[in-house]
Amino acid sequence: MTGLSDSFQRPIDYLRISVTDRCNLRCIYCMPAEGINLLPHEDVLSYEEIHRIAVTAAELGIKKVRITGGEPLVRIGLSSLIRMLAQIEAIDDIALTTNGTLLAQYADELKAAGLRRVNISLDTLKPDKFKLITRGGDFYHVLEGINAAGAAGLNPIKINVVVMAGSNDDELLDFARKTIEEGWHVRFIEQMPFNREFADSSFVPVNEMQERLAALGELEPSTVKGNGPAKYYRLPRAKGTIGFITPVSQHFCFRCNRLRLTADGKLRPCLLSEREVDLRHPLRQGISAEELKKLIKRAVDSKPRQHKLAQGCVPQDRPFSQVGG
Ligand code: 5AD
Ligand code: SF4
Repeated sequence: MTGLSDSFQRPIDYLRISVTDRCNLRCIYCMPAEGINLLPHEDVLSYEEIHRIAVTAAELGIKKVRITGGEPLVRIGLSSLIRMLAQIEAIDDIALTTNGTLLAQYADELKAAGLRRVNISLDTLKPDKFKLITRGGDFYHVLEGINAAGAAGLNPIKINVVVMAGSNDDELLDFARKTIEEGWHVRFIEQMPFNREFADSSFVPVNEMQERLAALGELEPSTVKGNGPAKYYRLPRAKGTIGFITPVSQHFCFRCNRLRLTADGKLRPCLLSEREVDLRHPLRQGISAEELKKLIKRAVDSKPRQHKLAQGCVPQDRPFSQVGG
């Protein structure tokens, strides 16, 4: 048999790897102001351990990987991990999700190491508001990061915007104009209720976003296809696209193709379920490649059919920043 599929016949070919739970920002929907309890260093997988898991996962059928965090670029030497992953022949796409603040510094070496493209989280175009949403971040660092990523050829660059009522929903049209004026690819994301109180009062469904965007013209469905759940559109005359991600109002679990590896070495079959398979301890006890394959398959087999956000079930075991989105 080639390829992995779960018990609902979904092909699984995409692995998201969180390399750290640390972050240099404190976004209001992601972390409490005082930060979170951080994983002890010895619990975080080494690059060699991550590489070993990726090699085995690739033998089973994983073709695409994405590096996430926390903020992945706060981990020293990330380019060396990218270089190791790029040498795995069966993996044909390596991407990175980052807050962009350190990209200006690293874009060139990441590209040279084999990184293909980046998604940058940016929830506002206003420097003062950026400081509020991220509790202290500098908008211009992100802007420099976006420009550096473009200059380094890390394309297409996608900008992820978590839309929050009363916070940044007044900027929907400004972000959309960036797809016309600068060719940005912008993706509007419905806020998932990890921080229940905050999310309940600021949730904006995608259909409401689309109604507001109609002020700029008709959204034409685009032929662009990503690896993930976004649906893409284009405004008249726009070089860039507008994507929508609807984890809450219209779940896309039926075509979910992914597994997640946490920074402390647990395979998590679903972002929104507490189920996990520990790989770190077995790895450190010297398991064989065959045994490692069995554990990866066990995680795939235990992938739930869909999340239960509608029934109010939100995982409580870990902060979002340990799973990497
Ligand atoms: N809902 C939706 N997206 C979120 N992200 C972080 N928290 C949430 C949430 N509650 C996004 C970030 C980033 C990615 C890693 O996950 O903005 O784009
Ligand atoms: Fe850091 Fe991303 Fe969480 Fe913001 S959303 S605090 S950038 S991990």
